[in-house]
Amino acid sequence: MTKIIFEVTEENLDTGLRGYPVGHCLTSRVDPMLGLYYYDKPIRDLAHLQPEEVIYFLMEGELKKGEGFESFCRELHKRAPVSKKVIDAILALPKEMHPMHLFVSSLVILGALEGTGDYPEDCLNIIAKAPEIVATIINHHGGWGKTPKSQPELGYMKNFAAMIRPPSIKDPKKLEEALRLFNILHYDHGGGNLSTFVGKAVASSLESMYGSLASAMCALNGPRHGRANQDCLVFLQEVLHAVGENATGDTVEELIRNRLLNKELVFGFGHAVLRVEDSRATIFYEAFEKLFPNHPYRKIANFLRERGPKVLKENPKIQNPYPNVDAVSGAFLAASGFDYPYYFTLLFGLSRIVGIARQIVYERCEAREGKGVPIYRPKYIYAPHIPK
Ligand code: MLT
Repeated sequence: MTKIIFEVTEENLDTGLRGYPVGHCLTSRVDPMLGLYYYDKPIRDLAHLQPEEVIYFLMEGELKKGEGFESFCRELHKRAPVSKKVIDAILALPKEMHPMHLFVSSLVILGALEGTGDYPEDCLNIIAKAPEIVATIINHHGGWGKTPKSQPELGYMKNFAAMIRPPSIKDPKKLEEALRLFNILHYDHGGGNLSTFVGKAVASSLESMYGSLASAMCALNGPRHGRANQDCLVFLQEVLHAVGENATGDTVEELIRNRLLNKELVFGFGHAVLRVEDSRATIFYEAFEKLFPNHPYRKIANFLRERGPKVLKENPKIQNPYPNVDAVSGAFLAASGFDYPYYFTLLFGLSRIVGIARQIVYERCEAREGKGVPIYRPKYIYAPHIPK
């Protein structure tokens, strides 16, 4: 293996480990110019597949649909039922909690009542059970009534779509398709995105899969990470409200300029690693055009996509002025009828636990010839005063 030497200097401290290699990631990588790959496949080549196919790919590293795949699907179906005790405990949680905090609590409850203590087992179990858990949280939080019986044999996201009961869905087939795509595009994003990193760090203490994922979901819930998809839709709605449905690119550009002048945030641009438009965002823009061409959110999302980089590029300090996945993922979901920004991060979490759980299995059971990665313990430089 090639040895890569990275020199750490004073300027690299207090920068959130930005860009520093700390380990291996088997399942995915983020190329600054080409975007997301699951193994060797650009995400675009996988975006048409069914969730089970992509989950199997992330678990096993192969795409072939033979007996291996069939028995994997049977395993997922067998493991899907969630006990009544867990569901009742979730339904007893206060509805005032943010849906992501309900998810964090549900993961801890599930771990306490159904955890096996074996990372690979719990990896498959949580992936299998997550759709029913998340549907229960949404119906409970939204006051949308009793969750219908889970039918995993319908398909991973078809089952989920059949279990959630938002009052405003006009075209269930389009909702199903929007959820499928959203789910697949968010499974994994390299080893260093914050929620994945946190999940692996917590698991390195030998905390259970469920506790590690609960910590990871707290990390995902922050507005700089997964909560950004909720904030981006709220931003887009504000823009639409301000410029109206007959807006032109120029009025949107003016709004962006004014916000920046007033030191207000413009949401949905930039990324720690990417230096071009996020490949997941590109796929969402295309699907938006195909599925919901006349929705007013599409027009605004497109104006923001076109004018945001134009304005942001004028500031030489901005390294990446292009849209990230959150710029459009929420608007796309909302156009499908699921216009509930409050649940967007939860849907991100439903998806991301797949990649995190698989990466935890690697670090706990496969890395270093099966010995596993030791407990995370980076070095901090003692500084009695705030360094200049
Ligand atoms: C993600 O999908 O995790 C986000 O784009 C953030 C990241 O990659 O750091």
